Amino acid sequence: MGQTITLTVNGVRRSVEVEDGERLIDVLRERLGLTGTKRGCDDGSCGACVVVVDGKAERSCLFLAAKADGREVRTIEGMADGRALHPVQEAMIEAGAVQCGYCIPGIVMELDALFSRQPDAPDEAIVEALARHLCRCTGYEAILEGARLARRKLAERRPA
Ligand code: FES
Ligand code: FES
Repeated sequence: MGQTITLTVNGVRRSVEVEDGERLIDVLRERLGLTGTKRGCDDGSCGACVVVVDGKAERSCLFLAAKADGREVRTIEGMADGRALHPVQEAMIEAGAVQCGYCIPGIVMELDALFSRQPDAPDEAIVEALARHLCRCTGYEAILEGARLARRKLAERRPA
């Protein structure tokens, strides 16, 4: 049967026809052309598809598109400000955490949600957030380093 949903994606209101049971990852990638959100396992276990919905990190491969109606979605495409990367993106690159890069959009969005909620998130909270993501390349050390660097960069930008 399907329905039309209206959601805000990276600050832009979009109306999209969705099928019953269609998931948010398919709306983002196939209908809106936002392919920065990656599909890995498609069953909720790898974290590659994480986006931020109303401030919360969500696995878009499990998230029903119909549930996104009226909500605010942020994807990796919404992170940079023009040509200037977001501090979390910059930090990942500087820490050498981006190897094949497949896991990185999901991790950046997970950290964006974490630091928006808890700007001084302790290492334990960062480790807990990263544990929801599979990276086949880095062994996680560089990603953890990148997350710590992101926390510092974000703190430096906060008004005193
Ligand atoms: S593709 Fe969604 S968790 Fe792996
Ligand atoms: S950098 Fe390749 S999967 Fe993480």
